[in-house]
Amino acid sequence: MSANESKRKLIIVSNRLPLSIKRVDGVFESSISSGGLVTSLSGLCKPTQFQWFGWPGMEVKNSKDREDVSRSLSEYHAVPIFLDSDLAHEHYNGFSNRILWPILHYQSGVIFDDGPWQAYRRVNELFADSVADVAQDGTLIWVHDYHLMLLPELLRTRLHAKGKHCAIGFSLHTPFPAGDFWRNLPVRKHLIDGLLASHLIGFHTDEYKQNFIDTCASLLGARTEIPNQIQYKSRLVIVGVDRLDHIKGLTQKLRGFDVFLDDHPELRNKVVLIQVAVPSREDVKEYQELETELSTIAGKINGKHATPEGTPLLYMHRSVPFTELTALYSVADACLLTSTRDGMNLVSFEYVACQEKRHGVLVLSEFAGAASFMREGSIPFHPANTTEMSESIFHALNLDPAERKCKYLYLRDFVNNNTRQASTIPSPDNIPVANLCY
Ligand code: ADP
Ligand code: G6P
Repeated sequence: MSANESKRKLIIVSNRLPLSIKRVDGVFESSISSGGLVTSLSGLCKPTQFQWFGWPGMEVKNSKDREDVSRSLSEYHAVPIFLDSDLAHEHYNGFSNRILWPILHYQSGVIFDDGPWQAYRRVNELFADSVADVAQDGTLIWVHDYHLMLLPELLRTRLHAKGKHCAIGFSLHTPFPAGDFWRNLPVRKHLIDGLLASHLIGFHTDEYKQNFIDTCASLLGARTEIPNQIQYKSRLVIVGVDRLDHIKGLTQKLRGFDVFLDDHPELRNKVVLIQVAVPSREDVKEYQELETELSTIAGKINGKHATPEGTPLLYMHRSVPFTELTALYSVADACLLTSTRDGMNLVSFEYVACQEKRHGVLVLSEFAGAASFMREGSIPFHPANTTEMSESIFHALNLDPAERKCKYLYLRDFVNNNTRQASTIPSPDNIPVANLCY
């Protein structure tokens, strides 16, 4: 970005702000939000003049409280868009996460419901009203993710009426599915029309971009161009860090690990999988059911494979501070990511950034967006194939040092060349690994 461009005003719009608000003992407190979108944009914000519009994560009813929240968020350039809790629930849980998210990630059995769809439209309108009021002529507006697909079109209309000319960009942080799948959504054309009002649309991979182009072509008739490393002295650590979400393939991961332990009983005491499942969208029934299922499988695996020396699976269903995550990344000999669909997957980048010394191995589902770029440096596999997963884990733990280094250097160069601010990851020398001695 040139010096002049960096002085242009930028408005970022996403459903989730980088800070979430909670009320503790009557006082509003803010904490850093989690998720790939917030992580990926945080590097941009330091050198750029920007305002970030989004929902503050809870209902704030009276105007005095709204003023307090707005004032405290403004210190971080964040602008809250206040929503009544029922409306926010229907937009976020009802349409965005129960209907749109599963379709974007090829999950079947989605039932369309008009109520949540109307809430989705209404929230997109409220976002458009706030942003169009504040944007000035020439402001760049950068809209993010599936919660706001109607926003570019709604914004254009409002900006036009106010005589403001603003470039609108849209970035999708999820996959965009093949046309046949997208057809399951009765309101698909409205969403495509909403997006096409953007001046520029960004996708994580060529495949998602091509699916979108094909959809536009069929839906609108549009023309488109366009030896053995296993250390028997201590446990080898495999790490997994995922939001607790169906798309992360967590049931598949636990089942695959179970098969690995069945295939290699001699490794039960030599390997541990540390799986962090960060709580997410806990108001949605399907997410609650997934949590119950995972706890049950985790219990069964340890029941079957534990020995007096310990358990091969450490399943943590809670949020872990980022410094602890990086400590975990740095001590892990391999990182196992099993997404059945995933826009990009930043955990794979973070693992590589923390492995300068160990040259750990990335075992990466071919369905993560990151696999489009990291295939050569990782061990790719199909997440539904538990035998292939078991073999891939074994392969990762047995790579000879030269091949491990070669794969690692490929990944390191890719991450360094494609990360806005590599220095946000603490150096492995400064991270608290002392309590993680495996
Ligand atoms: P998704 O966006 O689907 O959640 P990604 O792998 O792309 O998946 O991004 C997840 C991001 O959330 C990573 O940057 C990860 O470090 C971060 N994260 C995970 N747990 C926490 C936490 N407890 N606090 C803050 N960030 C977290
Ligand atoms: C994915 C989505 C983001 C979202 C994040 C966390 O990365 O693409 O838009 O913010 O998950 O999910 P949440 O529902 O907590 O915002």
